[in-house]
Amino acid sequence: MSPTPKEHRTDMSGTAAAPWWRSAVIYQVYIRSFADGNGDGVGDIAGIRSRLPYLKSLGVDAIWINPWYKSPMADHGYDVADYREIDPLFGTVADAEQLIAEAHEHGIRVIPDIVPNHTSDQHVWFRAALAAGSGSPERERYVFRPGRGPDGAQPPNNWVSRFGGPAWTRLPDGDWYLHLFAPEQPDLNWQHPDVHAEFESVLRFWFSRGVDGFRIDVAHGLVKHPELPDLAPLRDPAVEQPREHVDHPHWDRDEVHDIFRAWRKVADEFEGDRCFVAEAWADTPERLAAYVREDALHTAFNFDFLMATWDAEDLRSVIDTSLATLAPVGAPATWVLSNHDVVRHPTRYGRKSPTRRWVANESYRPEGPLDLTLGTRRARAAALLMLALPGGAYVYQGEELGLPEVEDLPESVLQDPIRERSGHTERGRDGCRVPIPWSGRSAPYGFSPDDATAPPWLPQPPHWAEHTAERQTGDDTSMLELYRTALLLRREHPALGDSPLTWLDTPAGVLTFHRAPGFVCVVNLSTAPHPLPDHLAVLLSSGPIKDDLLAPDQAAWLAV
Ligand code: BGC
Repeated sequence: MSPTPKEHRTDMSGTAAAPWWRSAVIYQVYIRSFADGNGDGVGDIAGIRSRLPYLKSLGVDAIWINPWYKSPMADHGYDVADYREIDPLFGTVADAEQLIAEAHEHGIRVIPDIVPNHTSDQHVWFRAALAAGSGSPERERYVFRPGRGPDGAQPPNNWVSRFGGPAWTRLPDGDWYLHLFAPEQPDLNWQHPDVHAEFESVLRFWFSRGVDGFRIDVAHGLVKHPELPDLAPLRDPAVEQPREHVDHPHWDRDEVHDIFRAWRKVADEFEGDRCFVAEAWADTPERLAAYVREDALHTAFNFDFLMATWDAEDLRSVIDTSLATLAPVGAPATWVLSNHDVVRHPTRYGRKSPTRRWVANESYRPEGPLDLTLGTRRARAAALLMLALPGGAYVYQGEELGLPEVEDLPESVLQDPIRERSGHTERGRDGCRVPIPWSGRSAPYGFSPDDATAPPWLPQPPHWAEHTAERQTGDDTSMLELYRTALLLRREHPALGDSPLTWLDTPAGVLTFHRAPGFVCVVNLSTAPHPLPDHLAVLLSSGPIKDDLLAPDQAAWLAV
């Protein structure tokens, strides 16, 4: 089977009928851990450039790169000190421009992260705000307030940081400032016109350097209730809550959409199909769909898919609800299994399915022993499910190598601010951020050059040797070859991309859907073998198929 590749996947001009981002496979590059070009133990732009042939042969349409801007790295780049500079750890603006040009030559688009909710405390605006003092216009670009209580010693309200502890820090001059994340990440005041003007200018800066879009960090957090009211008492997490929108003083406020309508206009000023993907957490799928209305952002991460348990009913309901809520606004779905904030999915799937959905890895509580063989089998099936669904998909670096979470990093190497902020009650997100194994039998597994001056910034476990790209290349049973073949088929098969799906009748525990023309995906989440439906050929399967029976935790793509 070798139909011509679909035009919108190969045409970099963006002039094809369907914009590329409606069905793109976007590979997430967590830059510090992808590839280290200069041997300092930290990934960088030179490293990404050296691995473009790998990404091309994997078959992805674009890369999303986690923040590469100048940063003191209190939250590994999500604390930006200068949005128009690249951090020296990663390279220079000239390196970034070269990467963009070379990626485009490889037919790969580039989407950096933009961090508009907060800056670094080392950003020139925040330093000016500190220097100018209480009541100054410089402080109005952030959220400064006097404290409560007779001597202002109590925080202005009861908001909490996502990383643990209060969301307010007090300065020696008595003012408090808001940080929904670490104290080194002061929240911007999006009611200030300078903030709007600055970010629109930053978008233009990078769009004019050729980037194809942006991933918007904490898109749902930008606008705060002007009166900063206290949070309502937390609902009991042990009690299953109905899925309904609850008015919140700093998450997902309606006014946030005005910002993104303006950003859309900025993107539309540039040639080609530039696109945004929002990291937005919303109470309901309808609220999420509001971010991707026609005049707003293009796409948003669908975290419901990532949070779904390995359960046919749960997954089907997430798929149906996502497609049904996006259809009226005309936006494509996105599907994602892992990212740099959550426990890698072979590990999640290798434990007894948690009975409740969990949000990010700070709320992941391992339940029971880990069966990584099972988790990996499910991860293979999940990849075929994800890549057969209508819309776009995200692949987190290392997922194509079948990397599990590294759950036994020594305490002494942990770096995520969540660990400190939680008073060491949480380990944080380092376990999904361990540098990628490329080749060889021992650390740094090709992550750094042979003459590296420093070890990888997080230690790679000995079992990384089994997961290198080198070792998996050419091995038909490997995760890497499964992803390569799936991405190739997805690129070539006329049924895969942005078109509807029809469910076929199957027993409980099995998901089967048809995509026209001539394609069926079957996923067996039950505990018994399942006979394949009538088909012309098995295009791809996540494991060996005997006697036309799909084993438990297996998936297959069929030509029908
Ligand atoms: C990013 C995190 C980051 C946080 C603060 C998140 O949503 O994905 O990695 O720590 O935003 O910027």
